[in-house]
Amino acid sequence: TGTLKINENNHLEIGGMDTAALAAKYGTPLYVYDVAQIRSKCRQFKAAFEKNDFSYQVAYASKAFSVLAIYQLIQEEGCSVDVVSGGELYTALKAGFPAEKIHFHGNNKTVAELTLALENKVGCIIVDNFYEIDLLNALTKERNQRVAVQLRTAPGINAHTHEYITTGQRDSKFGFDLENGQIDQAIQKVLENPLFDLIGVHCHIGSQIFETEAFTHTVDKMIGLLASWRDKYGYTAKVLNLGGGFGIRYTEADEPKEISDIIDAVCQEVVQKTGEYDYPVPEIWIEPGRSIVGDAGITLYETGSEKDIPGIRNYLAVDGGMSDNIRPALYDAAYTAVIANRATEPAEETYSIAGKCCESGDMLIWDIPLPKVNQKDILAVFSTGAYGYSMANNYNRIPRPAVVFVEDGEDALVVKRETYEDLIHLDQLI
Ligand code: LLP
Repeated sequence: TGTLKINENNHLEIGGMDTAALAAKYGTPLYVYDVAQIRSKCRQFKAAFEKNDFSYQVAYASKAFSVLAIYQLIQEEGCSVDVVSGGELYTALKAGFPAEKIHFHGNNKTVAELTLALENKVGCIIVDNFYEIDLLNALTKERNQRVAVQLRTAPGINAHTHEYITTGQRDSKFGFDLENGQIDQAIQKVLENPLFDLIGVHCHIGSQIFETEAFTHTVDKMIGLLASWRDKYGYTAKVLNLGGGFGIRYTEADEPKEISDIIDAVCQEVVQKTGEYDYPVPEIWIEPGRSIVGDAGITLYETGSEKDIPGIRNYLAVDGGMSDNIRPALYDAAYTAVIANRATEPAEETYSIAGKCCESGDMLIWDIPLPKVNQKDILAVFSTGAYGYSMANNYNRIPRPAVVFVEDGEDALVVKRETYEDLIHLDQLI
């Protein structure tokens, strides 16, 4: 991660702050985000498009981490956001995020959610299916309100990533199928309603993708589609939205490409393909989530019980687990970690880091070499900034951790730690 350092006390530092001090101040488990790293990622995406002289929008996919403070920060960086539910939309609006820079996603948006989006005049609705076209037809007519829309397609691209997080292949619940004439039927329906301003087409091929070719392939396919629409319907798109999915490093095994290299390749492909079809170069929109916040975040835990099964495994438990990071249990996701209060001590033992939930699958890291761990050491797990807090839950009635932002040697609490009282807040006795 960008600004991780080890200080003179042999403690891990993030954004100029001592992690052991942060753990002492706020308690554990604790999510800590390096704000400078988030800003840097936003700027890298934008700079790459500017270097290529492209019109673009970088929309942060806020499902990766959705709290008031991140919307503020993303707005400061001049990016847009994508939201996928009424709840994310509400949070963005409450943070003062400009509605015209909010893009609304989802494969089963409700009437209430679509109404909220229309009432607040969001910048664009990404229409996923025929049911939604019908709902929006009715709502726009009822309200006599124009709305900018994009049509989402499943481009049939197979990016090599975990099965549960690939979305671009044909067999997917998202978007209109490219074959069977479904996408053509969709555009015809949309073009019939003068209250729809069809600004372009959307696709998203998956998450944690390392292969640049997966993106350039998608460009080819989408521009082919747009060219066919021009020929068939006289429709020219303003926007090609390529979604998110840019991979990050979780462990040494991951080798993400530089952001600028991927965007360069995408822009070059767009220029080449539009040239082939003599099609005007569209604005390129992207929706990075993980790559904006993922490696900006770490989680601090306190170590506790140990169970050493000689010759088999040494389990070391921490005070969180699948309640604050469900990704290892759900996707076999791999992470790496250090003992933050003794950051340079050589590894002596192999531990498997267990959570505290009543479930055998509640493991955070299998077989990681660490120095001999004491109780109440601070374990820092890296790259937990995406889909950590946003997928956190109260399994076993474990309160969700606090979230802290650090920047320029200062820390700010952006989400309070949940209390036991919070846990029963919505319950009612019979
Ligand atoms: N745009 C669309 C339409 C998406 O469906 C997604 C992610 C993104 C953008 C952002 O993708 P990213 O840049 O973050 O890869 N919970 C899983 C990831 C699910 C991603 C779902 N869609 C995980 O923890 O790995």
